[in-house]
Amino acid sequence: MRRVPVYYYSSVSNLTRRFAVGLATHDGRPVRDLADAAVRASEVDGPWVLLTPSYKAGNAEEVTLPAAVRRFLRSATNRRHMVGVIGSGNRNFGVYYQAAARELAQISGRPVLFEFELSGTPEDVVECARVLADVDGLLTAPGG
Ligand SMILES: Cc1cc2nc3c(=O)[nH]c(=O)nc-3n(C[C@H](O)[C@H](O)[C@H](O)COP(=O)(O)O)c2cc1C
Repeated sequence: MRRVPVYYYSSVSNLTRRFAVGLATHDGRPVRDLADAAVRASEVDGPWVLLTPSYKAGNAEEVTLPAAVRRFLRSATNRRHMVGVIGSGNRNFGVYYQAAARELAQISGRPVLFEFELSGTPEDVVECARVLADVDGLLTAPGG
C-alpha cells in the first residue's frame, strides 16, 4: 500500500520537526523537510499531506503560512495532490490558534487531519499516525 508522505516545515525552534521525526520513527511514515531547498522546489508524484506550524504574531493581516510552504504550494501539481493538513500551534495565540493550517484547509477545501501543540505528545504521534493510516487506506480503496 502506498503510504502518503508528509511534507513538513519547521523553524529553528524545531518543534514541528520533532513531531515529524516521531511519525517517521513510529511506523516508518515517509517525511520530507521543506527546509531543504531541493524538496521545496520538487513536485510530488501522488497524494501528500502538509504539516505546518502557524506564525501570525498577533497581526490579523500577517501571512500565517511559512514562506517555505508557500514556495512548495506555488506548484499547481503540488496543490492539486495535497489531500490534507496537519497543524502545529500554541493555544496562547487564542483566535489565531492553528491559523495557518485552518486557513489553508479552508482555501484549498482539504480537511485539517490533526492538530497538536508545539512538538506534540507521544499520544499525539500515535493518534496522528492512525489518522494517516486511515488516509492511506482511503486512497488505496477502489475509487480512492
Ligand atoms: C512569532 C510566533 C508567532 C506564532 N504564531 C502562532 C499562531 O498564530 N498560531 C498558533 O497556533 N501558533 C503560533 N505560534 C506557535 C508556533 O506555531 C508553535 O510553537 C510551533 O510548534 C512552532 O513550530 P516550529 O518550532 O517547528 O517552527 C507562533 C510562534 C511564534 C514564535
